[in-house]
Amino acid sequence: MQSELETATASRSREQTAAESPPGSRIVCRQAISAEETIEHFAIRHEIFVAEQHIFRGSDRDAHDERDSVVRLLGYCDGVAAGSVRLYELDRPAGIWQGDRLAVLPAFRLRGVGAPLVGCAVAAAAVRGGRLMKAHVQPANVSFFQRLGWTSAGSVELYAGLIHQPMQTALPTPDEGLATLARFASGVTVRGR
Ligand SMILES: CC(C)(COP(=O)(O)OP(=O)(O)OC[C@H]1O[C@@H](n2cnc3c(N)ncnc32)[C@H](O)[C@@H]1OP(=O)(O)O)[C@@H](O)C(=O)NCCC(=O)NCCS
Repeated sequence: MQSELETATASRSREQTAAESPPGSRIVCRQAISAEETIEHFAIRHEIFVAEQHIFRGSDRDAHDERDSVVRLLGYCDGVAAGSVRLYELDRPAGIWQGDRLAVLPAFRLRGVGAPLVGCAVAAAAVRGGRLMKAHVQPANVSFFQRLGWTSAGSVELYAGLIHQPMQTALPTPDEGLATLARFASGVTVRGR
C-alpha cells in the first residue's frame, strides 16, 4: 500500500510536470467574413508575400481575389490572427480547386497554425462540391504538404517568378469537410512545442 509520503511525492511530481509542460495554444480557423477580418487576412498575406518573401511588389492581390468563388480563411493562435490561406474554384465540372497564399506570421510558425489552415482550405473546397485541390508549393514546404497527404503533380514550374512544385490532394466528402470546419471553428488546443 502507498504511504502518505509516497502519495504526496507523486502528487508534487505531477504538479511539477504540469507546471513544466508548455500550456499549449488554442488554434481556431475560420472564414474571414467581416471587413475587419478581411483586412487582417490581406495584412498577413502582405506581410509574408510582399514584405518577407518579396514575391510581389506592392500588393499580392490579383484577379482571383475578385472571383465569386474565392474563400479567405484566417488562422488564430490564442485569439490573435496569425495565418491566412485563400482558395477558389478552377474547374467546376471537374471539381478542381486551387489553394494559395498560405502564410503564417513568423512569430507563430511551428505552433500548429499552418496545418489546420491547409486542412480547413481542403474542407472548405469539399463542402462547396470540390473533389481535388491543387497548389503551387515552394520547395521548402513540399515535405510539409506531403505530411498532410498531398502528392506531387508533375515537374517543378515557375509560379509568381519562383520555382514551385505543383501538388494536389483529393478532397474529403462534404460531410467530412463540414466536420473539419466545425472542429477548427470551435478551436483545438495544440500542445506547446
Ligand atoms: C509553411 C508554413 C505555412 C507552415 O506553417 P506552420 O504554422 O509553421 O506549420 P505547423 O506548425 O502547423 O506545422 C505542422 C507540422 O509541419 C512541420 N513543418 C512546418 N513547416 C515545415 C516545412 N517547411 N517543412 C516540413 N515540415 C514543416 C512542423 O514541424 C509540424 O510538425 P509536427 O506536427 O511534427 O510538430 C509557414 O512556415 C509559413 O507561413 N511560411 C512562409 C510562407 C510560405 O512559405 N507559404 C507557403 C507557400 S507554398
